[in-house]
Amino acid sequence: MPANKTQYVWMDGKLTEEKNVRVPVLTHSLQYGSGMFEGLRVYETDRGAAIFRLQDHVKRFMNTAKIYSIDLGFTADEISDAIIAVVKKNALLSGYIRPFAFYNDTQIGISTFGKKVSVFVAAVPFGAYYGKGEDAGIKCKVSSWHRINSLILPPEAKASGNYINSILSSIEARHSGFDESILLSTAGYVAEGPGENIFFVERDKLITPPREADILLGITRDSIIQIAEAMGMVIEERNVHREELYTCDEAFFSGTAAEITPITNIDGTKVGTGKVGVMTSALSKAYSDVVHGRNKEFASWLTYV
Ligand SMILES: Cc1ncc(COP(=O)(O)O)c(C=O)c1O
Repeated sequence: MPANKTQYVWMDGKLTEEKNVRVPVLTHSLQYGSGMFEGLRVYETDRGAAIFRLQDHVKRFMNTAKIYSIDLGFTADEISDAIIAVVKKNALLSGYIRPFAFYNDTQIGISTFGKKVSVFVAAVPFGAYYGKGEDAGIKCKVSSWHRINSLILPPEAKASGNYINSILSSIEARHSGFDESILLSTAGYVAEGPGENIFFVERDKLITPPREADILLGITRDSIIQIAEAMGMVIEERNVHREELYTCDEAFFSGTAAEITPITNIDGTKVGTGKVGVMTSALSKAYSDVVHGRNKEFASWLTYV
């Protein structure tokens, strides 16, 4: 966002300048990590700005609220309308949208009962998450921290507190000279990245860990599965052993922020040739065509603003 451009957010039903919004420093959500959120992208297309898979993101937002017994005070349609309104008001052609719910209170104490909930939606310009460019991959480290599981915290909810687990694994990877981490599930299977799902290619098959590997059910992951199916690729959702990370031909992260990010090195071992793979490139191009409205088959995933 250019420094001089007024930024608007939607807060509890009203569009307002971001600088006018106040969040109490004693909010439960800052003290205890009880915020919850979504992340969507808006893309520039020939027909203007389009939000990618709006309904699916809002559905996941509502599900997170349900898991945590948070009464948002707004329906899914109202949240969708708020997201559209923020993108419009900021005249955002391409960027990232962050709906967020938090306890708007000032009382110390873990219980959430009786606390007021506030919801805001912000939308900001946003480029490539890892910023390496399409032809370059990232170096990942398998983390010594395991992915949370639903005996401890619900991995399928997008709650702020979950990301403390992600942050620890990311810090470890960066301290060791890597770009990012890969987390294993409690059972020892490959789960996902700190904010991304993971895919592998082994002998022309596309493989991704299943729900049972304690992953967040990524909307990009689902999009890639459907796009790959339409391209005639063979897809397997199955548990992946750690050693397959070293022997696979290609690997990539998927996520709203990361989009498709090739992984070319894991724990110091080259993935395949160490260059971005053929299937990864083909899927990247296909995904880019879909989100930019150049593929009619998946046109229903776009909400034009
Ligand atoms: C832990 C985690 N896994 C996977 C993803 C990818 O999900 P999506 O494709 O819906 O953005 C995200 C991003 O939201 C995430 O935070």
